[in-house]
Parts: sequence; C-alpha cells; structure tokens
Amino acid sequence: MPGYAETHARSLRDPEGFWGEIAEQIHWERRWSRVLDASRAPFYRWFPGGRLNTCFNAVDRHVEAGRGAQAALIYDSPMTGQVRSLSFTGLKDLVARFAGVLAGQGVGKGDRVIIYMPMVPEAVIAMLACARIGAIHSVVFGGFAARELATRLDDAKPKLIVAASCGLEPGRIVQYKPLLDEAIQLASAKPERCIILQRPQGPGQLTPKRDLDWEEAMAGARPVDCVPVEATDPLYILYTSGTTGQPKGVVRDNGGHAVALDWTMKAVYGVDPGEVFWAASDVGWVVGHSYIVYAPLLHGCTTILYEGKPVGTPDAGAFWRVISQHKVAALFTAPTAFRAIKREDPEGREIGKYDLSRFRTLFLAGERSDPDTLRWAEAKLKVPVIDHWWQTETGWAIAANCMGIEPLPVKHGSPTKAVPGWDVRVLDADGKPAAPGAIGALVCKLPLPPGTLPTLWNAHERYRKSYLDRFPGFYETADAGMVDEDGYIYVMARTDDIINVAGHRLSTGAMEEVLASHPDVAECAVIGVADPIKGQVPLGFLVLKAGVKRPPADIEAEVVKLVRERIGPVAAFKTATVVKRLPKTRSGKILRGTMQKIADAEDYRMPATIDDPAILDEIRQSLEGVGYARK
Ligand code: COA
Ligand code: AMP
Repeated sequence: MPGYAETHARSLRDPEGFWGEIAEQIHWERRWSRVLDASRAPFYRWFPGGRLNTCFNAVDRHVEAGRGAQAALIYDSPMTGQVRSLSFTGLKDLVARFAGVLAGQGVGKGDRVIIYMPMVPEAVIAMLACARIGAIHSVVFGGFAARELATRLDDAKPKLIVAASCGLEPGRIVQYKPLLDEAIQLASAKPERCIILQRPQGPGQLTPKRDLDWEEAMAGARPVDCVPVEATDPLYILYTSGTTGQPKGVVRDNGGHAVALDWTMKAVYGVDPGEVFWAASDVGWVVGHSYIVYAPLLHGCTTILYEGKPVGTPDAGAFWRVISQHKVAALFTAPTAFRAIKREDPEGREIGKYDLSRFRTLFLAGERSDPDTLRWAEAKLKVPVIDHWWQTETGWAIAANCMGIEPLPVKHGSPTKAVPGWDVRVLDADGKPAAPGAIGALVCKLPLPPGTLPTLWNAHERYRKSYLDRFPGFYETADAGMVDEDGYIYVMARTDDIINVAGHRLSTGAMEEVLASHPDVAECAVIGVADPIKGQVPLGFLVLKAGVKRPPADIEAEVVKLVRERIGPVAAFKTATVVKRLPKTRSGKILRGTMQKIADAEDYRMPATIDDPAILDEIRQSLEGVGYARK
C-alpha cells in the first residue's frame, strides 16, 4: 500500500486517475464520460455524464450484497430512554415507503424538501427518501428560530416540509410545530404540504388541508424504487452562516459526494464495512450529513444516531456507555464535548466503568482542538486522538491524519497534513506564497476534490465572489493559519466575522443586524469572546440613541431575547452591554479585533489609526462589569 506522501502526490499529479479508480467502488447506472470537467474553470464538475442514485448506494446495494440483516442505524436516545436498531433491510423498507409518500404528494426530481427535525431516525429516513427520488433535501437545525427557517424557505422554495412536532433538550421540550407555523407565516414561499412526525413527548396541532401525519401517510404508502440522477445533480442544500443575515446555501452533488465520502471512511477514519461509526453531532450540521448519514451508510457501516448530550444525559459517562454498548470503532465529535466531559469528570473516572476494547480512534473537528483537551483525551482514552479540519463547504476533511493510509506522528495544535485531493497553500495579503511558519490566508488550489461545493443555491455569483475572486486559481477557506516545514497545517482563526460557538458556526454580522433592529439602538458590535467550554461565545455592545432614558439593563435584556427569537437558542447570545461609544478607526471602522483582545485579557497594540484611544478604557470598564477583561 502506498504511504501518505505518495498517495497525496499522486492525487494532485493525476486527479482523474486517482478519483476515477476510487469511483469504481460506487454503483453507477451509467458510467461517467469524464472524471473531471475543467472546461469552465474556475467552475469544475466531477463525473459528468455519470448516472447513479445515492440512496441505492447507501442502502439498497448493501441489502443486495448480503448485508440486509446488519444494523444500518442504531438510534440511541437517553432523552426518551429508547434504543432502537434498524437493519439495512428495515431501513430500505422505510425509506422506500417514505419515498412513496413524497412521490404521492407530487415531489419529484429536483424538487426541494425542507427537513426540520431533531435526532430521530425519521430525519435520516426523510433524507434518504429524498435522495431515492432525486428530490433535493435541505435540513434545518432544530436550534434555529422561526425567522431563520423562514429565510431558508424563501431561498429553497420547498414543495414540501417534513418536520417533527418537537425536539427534546435537557429540561425542556422544544415545540417545533409552532415554530414551523410561524416560519410559514413569515415566508413568502409557502409549501403545499407538511408531513409531521407526532412525538408523544409533545404532539403538535395539525393544520387542516396542509399537514399530514407521518404515521398515517406511511400506513398507506407504496414503496418506490431509486430514480437514477446525473452525478452533477444536487443531492442537498445545506445553509451555513455567511457574513450577513442571508445564509449561504451550500450545494452538494450526487456523484462526487458518494465517491469521496465512501473513500474517506477507510482512508481518513480507518473504518471497514460492518464496523460501527459514531458521529456525535446533529443531522442539521454538515458533520451530521456526511458522517451520521451518508458516509457510514455508503461504506456499509453501522451508524449511531444519538439523541443526547455528552454530559447530563445522565452523566459524563454517556459517551463511554454508547461506545461500549454498541461496540463503536471510531467516534467523531467536537472538542467542546470533551471540554464539557472533562469539567464534570476531570479524573476520567467514568471511563473506567465501561468496556472500550473495540474503540480505536477519536476524531475531533468543528473548531480548534486546544492541546489541553487533546492531551486529556489521549491520556484518559489511550487511543489516538485525531484533530481534523474541514468546513460545511468542503463536506469532508481538508486536513487530517489519515488513519487508513499511513498514520503520521501527531503534532498537538495541528490537524496534520492535507488529505489526498487537497492542495493547501498559505498566501499573504498580496496573494504571494507565505514562508513556512508565516501566518496567512489558508487557500486550496483549484480544482477542489469531488464532494465539495460546486456552487451556492441560486447564488452562483455570490459563490464566485465569496470563495474564488480574492485569490484567482484558489478556493479561499476564510481561515487563517500556517504550514510548517514538515507540511503540518495550523488553523488559527477566521478571516471573516464567523465565530465558533460549541462547534456551531455563527455570524456576528447576522447578530449585529438583530441588535441594530432594536428601536433604542443607534450602533452596535458583536464579537466572539473566549469561553472555557464552548470555545467562543458572542458578546454584544450597544450604543443607545440620543435621548433614550430607559434603564440600559432593560435594553440589554431585550436584545438578548431578540437574538434568541430571531436566530435561535443555538446562538448562545447571553450578554450585551451598553457603552457610550464604540472604538473606531479614523475612517469609521469598528475595532472589533481590539475589543476582543481586551475582553479576553490578551495583549494588544494600540491601533495606529484609532480615532480616540480613551474609548478603549471605557470599553475595558464595561467588559469588567460583565465579567470579562480580567487577567
Ligand atoms: N434544538 C433546540 N435547541 C437546541 C438544539 C436543538 N437541536 N441544540 C441546542 N439547542 C439549545 C440548547 O438547549 C441551548 O439552549 P439554552 O440557551 O436554553 O440552554 C442553546 O441551544 C445552546 O446550545 P449549545 O451551545 O449546544 O449549549 P449546551 O449548553 O446545550 O451544550 C455542549 C453544550 C458542549 C454539551 C453541546 O454544545 C454539545 O454537546 N456539543 C457537542 C458537539 C456538537 O454537537 N458539535 C456540532 C458540530 S460537530
Ligand atoms: P463549519 O462550516 O460549521 O464546519 O465550520 C467550519 C469552520 O470551523 C472552519 O472554517 C474553521 O474555522 C473551523 N474549524 C473546523 N475544524 C477545525 C479544526 N480542526 N481546527 C480549527 N478550526 C476548525
């Protein structure tokens, strides 16, 4: 078997040969005419001319190959006290029937279906059913508010919505149905039909003529077969935070996605068909799309759908219980989950209570893995802990320590090297290559490998502007970092206004839009400040309009409520503080970076262009008042 260096070099030297061979692992209804179409560079397409069905590859072909009785999906829900296993045959039956329900409602190839569901098997069934009939799903995370859902309805213009009546968070039931109704009210694109999964913990009120009950619809449904689609047809749209309140609809195609994701299961994660893989994330995020649903199933693995938290459901041993009970070979989660476990069980006592003999590797991503957490996990679990770097846009890892190719020595703080298929460079502000060890913009030379975003939904121009224009010939990741002399990549910070809260990607710009809409607010700024568990949390500064006499505390509480209502609880926006003025450059640019350094009690240089340095002292005092800026 060729090692890492040889595999990586070949993937860049001969991308068509490399991915063409890998594509043989997928079942094609019609072979591609070209592996890579570069005729419209910088826009590239993988496997044009090929026809396949992603659901067939993820489910049916495993049944045909004799894996029918193997567990495809284990639903483990400490929130409801249930553990339920679905074999590949069982999953196929349910998916084919739900595809029949969708088809019966007139949903067909290219139609959009929004899925607004918590971590229940029906969410996976709905995603695969869309793939089965060539419909394009767009899953919306349950922690978003009605207005966020409405924005996505208006952009995707779905024919139908599949939703659950409620989600379950520790200590509270999140009623999805009223949120759904409000979103439909707010949106101008109204779906013809909603299919509602009534959960016993919080059933919803069905809207006559519009809503159907999931169980009733399934009872009378006839199974339908897989519909072959073009490799370049969209499989899904996943909205992610951009720099404004308007999220970006990342498009994923069928062919490149199936090829790349299946390959990563062995190459990156070192997992074989028949083994159990667990991504402790949510189907609403890209990690959930790629590594709860598609990749493990494409590879013939058993996937775990966990409706619970790392702590409190019921304790800090929850993850170890799941690993031991279901014989998990590899776990993928965000460092924030480990920080939460470490805080509750610093000695790792819970770990000793479980048999983790089948557990081989822990993978972390979604945010920077701080070396403390990494070392703690290594010492307590005694397995390799692999940090890897990727984004919603890329769909799979840009940099990782590829367990199935050749494990490399770990350097703490680095997600190791570029995965085969990725040509990662560091450029300075002028677009020139940075020296080894120098920090610059992390970019990837085009073409990106298969499975990455070909465009943004309904926003081709925004796609070009956001990712391709700044450094011609390269994809701009919007992460800053460096590559050391050994080729190890270090991801340090975002170059835009995105912050990372408990592994969730959020736009401070979108939060500022909400604060600015408050009638008493003249000006505002939102920054991400360090948090020991969540990595970062947002913090808002408000300048009130002249003549506003209301107590600042009331206005602060109102904007906190407003962000929760407009964006959702997942924004974790809990603190706002009224200040007299905001620090700015002479040209009027708000000095958010300096404010963040003051909040985190980091050293900073007085910006040469600052309008009035005295403002920084006022900011420090305000921050001290809300518990920040303390050494
Ligand atoms: N539906 C509705 N609300 C949700 C939700 C969902 N699917 N997911 C989270 N929320 C709510 C939470 O209940 C919380 O509400 P609160 O303000 O009333 O407490 C809020 O959104 C913030 O959630 P979160 O940032 O997740 O914080 P938490 O305190 O509930 O949990 C962790 C902290 C670390 C335990 C949690 O973030 C976690 O398990 N992370 C695992 C990693 C992960 O999933 N990463 C995703 C990408 S890999
Ligand atoms: P998302 O699109 O939600 O997956 O978020 C992607 C962003 O999360 C990246 O652009 C990075 O800023 C950050 N990120 C993801 N993985 C890592 C990692 N391993 N190390 C550092 N940052 C990461």
